[in-house]
Amino acid sequence: MAHTQNNNPLLTSFQLGPLTLPNRVVMAPLTRMRASMPGNVPQPLNAEYYRQRATAGLIIAEATPVSPMGYGYYATPGIHTKEQAKGWLPVTQAVHDTGGRIFLQLWHVGRQSHPDLLPGNAQPVAPSALSSGSFAVTAEGVKEHPLPRALETAEIPAIVEEFRIGSQLALEAGFDGVEIHGANGYLLEQFTCDGSNIRNDQYGGSLENRLRFPLEVTKAVASVWGADRVGYRMSPSGMFGGMEESNRLRTFSTLATELNKLNICYLHIVEPRVMGNEDLEEPNTDLTSGKFRPYFNQAIISAGGHDRASGIQWLENNECDLVAYGRHYISNPDLVERFAQNVALTPYDRETFYGGDHRGYTDYPFLNQED
Ligand SMILES: Cc1cc2nc3c(=O)[nH]c(=O)nc-3n(C[C@H](O)[C@H](O)[C@H](O)COP(=O)(O)O)c2cc1C
Repeated sequence: MAHTQNNNPLLTSFQLGPLTLPNRVVMAPLTRMRASMPGNVPQPLNAEYYRQRATAGLIIAEATPVSPMGYGYYATPGIHTKEQAKGWLPVTQAVHDTGGRIFLQLWHVGRQSHPDLLPGNAQPVAPSALSSGSFAVTAEGVKEHPLPRALETAEIPAIVEEFRIGSQLALEAGFDGVEIHGANGYLLEQFTCDGSNIRNDQYGGSLENRLRFPLEVTKAVASVWGADRVGYRMSPSGMFGGMEESNRLRTFSTLATELNKLNICYLHIVEPRVMGNEDLEEPNTDLTSGKFRPYFNQAIISAGGHDRASGIQWLENNECDLVAYGRHYISNPDLVERFAQNVALTPYDRETFYGGDHRGYTDYPFLNQED
C-alpha cells in the first residue's frame, strides 16, 4: 500500500509521558564533537543545528557527560558545570521556538576514555580493570583506550550523584526530559554485562548486582525529572566498545522489567543490525525491539538502520512506538517533510560526522533549497 501523508503511521501523533509528539520520527542521539573548548560548552552553531531539526517528533540531543571523568571524545558538550547548562539554554530555546521537543542524553563513558580527555590525565574508571580494546578520540586524534582502574565500592555513590546533578542542570538548561545512556559499551552497560563486570561487591557478580548501578542512576535521574520524562537507551546486542555478555536475553529483559517498574516513559533499543555508528552485514542476535514488548509497558523507540519504509513497517507491526533516525538526520534536517512527501534523502558524508565547523553540520539542504 502506498503511504500518503494521511495514512503514514510515521506522521501520526504520540503521547510520550506528558508530551504530545506530532509525529513518530525521533532524531537519534548523535555525537558531533562541535562544542566550544575549553569547557565543553555548547555554542550558537549547535543551537542552529538543533533548530534545523526541530520538526522531529522528539530530538534526543547528543551524549553529554555528567562528569569530568565521563569524556571519551574531544569537544563533546558536558552537563556538569553551570556554564555548560547556560550554553545549552539557547539550544533548547531554539528548538522550542521552532515548535520542537528535546531530551538530553546523559553520559559517562567509563573505560572508553583516555587520560588526555580526563582531569589531571587520570586513568579512566570502570567496574573492572578490563580493557575495551577500542579507541578514544582526543585533540590529537584517535588513541587506544588504556586499561581502566576498577572503581572502589565507596566511589560509586558519587557517580550516581553526578547523574543526579547533571539531571538538575539539564532541567535548568530547559530540556523537556532526559535519556540515560545505557548503550554502546559505556559505563552503564559496562556494569550491566558480565564480560566487563567481574566485581565481587554488591555491584557485580549476580545479575541483580550488575543492574544495581544502572537502576540507582535511573532512580536518581527520575528523582529530579519525574519518571515520565526519563528514557533509557540500551543495546541488547551491543558489541561496540568490546562488549560481551553471556546471556543477553536474560540480562536485558530483566533490565527492561526493572525499568518498567520504575515507570520511565520509554525504552530506546538499538537494533542488532547496527553496531555503534555502522551497519553490520548480518544482525548478531535476534533481539530486535519487538522482543522487549512483553517486559516493558511504556513506549519503545527502535533505532538502527531504519529508512522510511522500515519505519512504517515496524510501526504497523507494532514492533515499536517511535522510530529513531541517526545518520539520515545528519544529512536531512527536514527528514519529516521528506518522509511526508516521500522524496529522496540527501546522502550523508562520514568525513564530517565528528568535529569541524558548520560544514557537514548545518549546511545540509532543506527541500525548498534544492529547486
Ligand atoms: C556520528 C554519530 C554519532 C553518534 N553518537 C551517538 C551518541 O552520542 N549516543 C548514542 O547513543 N548513539 C550515538 N550514535 C548511534 C546512533 O544514535 C544510532 O543508534 C546509529 O547511528 C544507528 O542508527 P541509524 O542507522 O539511523 O544511523 C551515533 C551515530 C553516529 C553516526
